[in-house]
Amino acid sequence: MISRETLEKEYPNYKRCIESAFESCQSHLFRWWDEITDAEKKRLLEQTAAIDFQFVQKLFNDNRRKTKNSLLGDLVPPQITPIPKTARELELAQGARQIGEASLRRGEIAVLTVAGGHGTRLGSNGPKGTLPIAPISGKSIFQLHAEKIRAVQQKYHTYIPWYIMTSETNDRVTQDFFQSHRFFGLDTEQVCFFTQGMLPAVDLRGKLLMNSKSDIVMSPNGHGGTIIALKEKGILEDMEERGIKHIFYHQVDNVLIKIADPVFVGHHLKNDAEMSLKIVKKRHPEEKVGVVVHSNGHLQVIEYSELSHEDMHARNEDGALKYDAGNIAVHMISIDFLEKIYQHGDALPFHAALKKVPYLDDKGETINPEENNAIKFESFIFDVLKYIEKGVIMEVLRDDEFSPVKNMEGENSPTTARQDMINLFGRWLRNAGISVPADAQGNVIGLIEINPCFALDEEELRNKIDKHLQFNGNLIV
Ligand code: UTP
Repeated sequence: MISRETLEKEYPNYKRCIESAFESCQSHLFRWWDEITDAEKKRLLEQTAAIDFQFVQKLFNDNRRKTKNSLLGDLVPPQITPIPKTARELELAQGARQIGEASLRRGEIAVLTVAGGHGTRLGSNGPKGTLPIAPISGKSIFQLHAEKIRAVQQKYHTYIPWYIMTSETNDRVTQDFFQSHRFFGLDTEQVCFFTQGMLPAVDLRGKLLMNSKSDIVMSPNGHGGTIIALKEKGILEDMEERGIKHIFYHQVDNVLIKIADPVFVGHHLKNDAEMSLKIVKKRHPEEKVGVVVHSNGHLQVIEYSELSHEDMHARNEDGALKYDAGNIAVHMISIDFLEKIYQHGDALPFHAALKKVPYLDDKGETINPEENNAIKFESFIFDVLKYIEKGVIMEVLRDDEFSPVKNMEGENSPTTARQDMINLFGRWLRNAGISVPADAQGNVIGLIEINPCFALDEEELRNKIDKHLQFNGNLIV
């Protein structure tokens, strides 16, 4: 292995990062120095220069010291805007819709899709958004989102800028995908890509991992990276220039997302909220979803891994789960609020996640671990909640609005996402008076696909669909 002195002498421009790597006990990064090409050496040094070794060491040490719930105070369930059932609630929702629609018409709303994750559980090659998902046409997730944006534009005669956050790893391929599909009918200037920051993954002793003899394992810094990237990449400025006042934020992998839902936009505006969240009721205490609570005097989302067993299973007198507000990562965020966060200058905390990460062992062989072997550090967007004074938490029906693609098989997989889409369309058709058969589990028997540009919601479908239509097991409109 090359010595620190030789390296520093040969590459004086990189002296600081070489020093930093050696002093942080990461000298193994140069273990294969004599075996790699000059171009690889340069790349490795550049990668090393982009890493703040002391910061990574601090993250690792802080994580070791942290105990479960160490940051949490007493938890209290938050106040929730319910799914409207009573006449009063329906009236409030209608009022919110009108406010939201007016804001959409004024062109104040942008859509922000976070798509920088690696999708490791899904294990597919490309970015998640490129996954073919529509039940009949096989359109990609990105295309579904794009069509919803087009449909909202048509409906409200408006223009909705679409910002997509990628990471260094998937940015090129994501942009190429949009180019090759001609931006799915959207204007090219309307879709704006920006990348988030990256951090190295470490092993359980805090050592950085290598992908190859010249490449360090780097991961996106979490969806909380959105907050910093919006500012650093000039996106906030771009939004302000375009007259955007509020951002509709969602994750790329939710195929049932109601993009720029006017009722949600309206509740957010009506309440002068800084950040708002949609939630669904948790299915069971151990469901792996973060819950929204009140704690330490403000709203918080607590990840399932950070909630104590006792709180996870706590129940109200009526037997319902006490902390059941499952966060589905659909938010409204006001531009003014972002400006306020930047004034704080207080960075979001990093959370450590244990993951299985392939790496190069001491012999230079690639290991695909079967157990968690690495820690990735990620910041979470919902940690900005501690800064909000006003926020709306709106409950929605999971079956109508939340079906994420996380795993290759089983729950939250492409199969469940497709079925959830078909079932949603099946309900719309039934409510329009068309008979659609279902199996014992309530799943539609057959395939249905409704283009958002034909009908964005049940009401639009009811107004447009031929009432005499006979469903023969396969319907695409
Ligand atoms: P997940 O936490 O589910 O991560 O992200 P993932 O990358 O999709 O999948 P795994 O955990 O590796 O299997 C939820 C959403 O947040 C985005 C993802 O693209 C997804 O839309 N995300 C996540 C980012 O944009 N950046 C990140 O650093 C992490």
